[in-house]
Amino acid sequence: MAWNSRELTVGQLAERSGVAVSALHFYETKGLISSRRTAGNQRRYSRDTLRRVAFVRLSQRLGIPLKTIKDALAELPEERTPTRDDWARLSGAWRRELDDRIEQLQRLRDDLTDCIGCGCLSLDRCALANPYDRLGEEGPGARRIDTHVRPPAPQCR
Ligand code: FES
Repeated sequence: MAWNSRELTVGQLAERSGVAVSALHFYETKGLISSRRTAGNQRRYSRDTLRRVAFVRLSQRLGIPLKTIKDALAELPEERTPTRDDWARLSGAWRRELDDRIEQLQRLRDDLTDCIGCGCLSLDRCALANPYDRLGEEGPGARRIDTHVRPPAPQCR
């Protein structure tokens, strides 16, 4: 197959995209990319699949879940390959998610600082072992055990 062919084999797509064949097959099973089958049942990908794969890889590097990536691709008219404008729009929305996650990670990092060298994993004082101690606001002791439900009395024979 010529390098400038309009279609790529899975090996060519892997080589050009830098993504393993197994990952490309995985993307296909997840509906992120698609191929047609030849008479010999071999996959052929259109050339614009390269751009879709690049979009998926970049999104994954940002920590965007595959389901979200798939939904974003499905929003595009006739599931076309994302353009520069599409990427600008989607990455703008994902930036807000990234900012939220970074803020959460910074809080976790700060909590971890208190834990380093401690190891107590105390429910009373460790913010990592017991984050947002909501049940603790209801009072001391195990809060998930329903005290109104008593176990059945033992049966005498
Ligand atoms: S392990 Fe002791 S405070 Fe977290």
